Amino acid sequence: MSTIKRDGFGSRFGVLVAVAGSAVGLGNLWRFPYMVGTNGGAAFIFLYLFFVILLCMPIMFSEFIIGRRTQSNAFGAIKKIAPKSGWLSIGVISVVASICIMSFYSVVGGWTLEYIFKSFSPSFLTSDSSALSSQFSGFSQSSFMPVVMHLLFLAISALIVVAGVKNGIEKYSKILMPVLFFLVLLLAIRSLTLDGAGEGVKFLFHPDFSKITGETMLAALGQAFFSLSLGMGCIITYGSYVNKKENLFKISFMTVAADTGFAILAGLAVVPAVFAFGIAPGQGPSLVFITLPQIFAQLPFGSVFAVGFFFILLIAAVTSAISLLEVVVAYFTEELKMTRKVAVVVTFMIIGVLGTFSSLSQGSLSDVTIFGKNFFDLFDYTSSNILLPVGGLLVVLFVGWRMKRADVLDELTSGGTVALRKSLFTGIMLVIKFLAPIAISIVLINSLI
Ligand code: TRP
Repeated sequence: MSTIKRDGFGSRFGVLVAVAGSAVGLGNLWRFPYMVGTNGGAAFIFLYLFFVILLCMPIMFSEFIIGRRTQSNAFGAIKKIAPKSGWLSIGVISVVASICIMSFYSVVGGWTLEYIFKSFSPSFLTSDSSALSSQFSGFSQSSFMPVVMHLLFLAISALIVVAGVKNGIEKYSKILMPVLFFLVLLLAIRSLTLDGAGEGVKFLFHPDFSKITGETMLAALGQAFFSLSLGMGCIITYGSYVNKKENLFKISFMTVAADTGFAILAGLAVVPAVFAFGIAPGQGPSLVFITLPQIFAQLPFGSVFAVGFFFILLIAAVTSAISLLEVVVAYFTEELKMTRKVAVVVTFMIIGVLGTFSSLSQGSLSDVTIFGKNFFDLFDYTSSNILLPVGGLLVVLFVGWRMKRADVLDELTSGGTVALRKSLFTGIMLVIKFLAPIAISIVLINSLI
């Protein structure tokens, strides 16, 4: 047994804020709108919501169950229940996936940081899409500043992780989320009232199911996992800090609701404006950075809102990044017995280097491709569309088939203190054992054909 005293969350509100803080981030406000744009709009959203409800809720319970039961990092958790078995691949996936995700997430975090500074300059907010577009590419394709910003973003996140769970994560997560919500709401209202926004609303809500391909399905599944921080032990790790009395249903449900609300609202803020301004919806990662400044330009005190928005987006990105870093750091400290400081430094160096490659792949290294993808896209695709779905599949199989049914029940009822109807428990187990694994496998196999 480990003798290291484990840190934990101070209160119910703290857990919720930290888990929701992990879920809500660039995935909702940056990735979701551009995925909707590149994958055909409403049909993608429909699939996304379907996966969130059908698959992500049970996977989230499953991760919480594993984490709280074992009180360990993702790798150690699996080791406690199934030592020396193939299940340990879940632990391996979790560490590899966090590093992969951070290697592009931190770059986008850096872009956000840069956009805070840009928002101060009066000429930044303009109604000229092509000026904004060249402004973004001019910055993101250069070799120096984006790398500096990536390292700065990573350093901020790493410093918070050094401080530990209670003093770090919880304290910094608490205040700004509601403010962010209102800012995005404001953007959505402005966007929806622009001339020509109607086309965007149609794009968001009138599904054309003929556009759905195997790749679209996988993209929707990957986005759902990405946005909810699932499939790579993040929630296992946070679950291990959750107090035994906490109701896992409530935390899961509220996290899913908050995260999905943010994503849809971000879609409403970005997509109608994209159509109103005549921007191409399918242009990828730059979409939000080109569209939002243009909406701010249409608001009174636009600069003030822009500075505030990018600042809070940065905080949202940081609270997600720390949950990713925490997976690696918890592994290094608990399995490899590093001190927390050393673990953070090592993690910083690995992601610092890989992230530099993905930043440079936007410009000077754009010709270097592996499987036809540059570094940035490769890290993104590998993690979201391969590692997270496979990790999620293994997690549900693990809880459904490897853990003791009584232990699962004990966790779901928080040691018998939360009432759970027998039929509901049977239903959840059926989803975890059969429905979720089959559905994920179908999506994965389908995308290969
Ligand atoms: N969900 C976060 C976001 O939407 C990113 C994130 C944090 C994440 N932890 C994760 C993604 C774990 C996948 C797995 O920005």
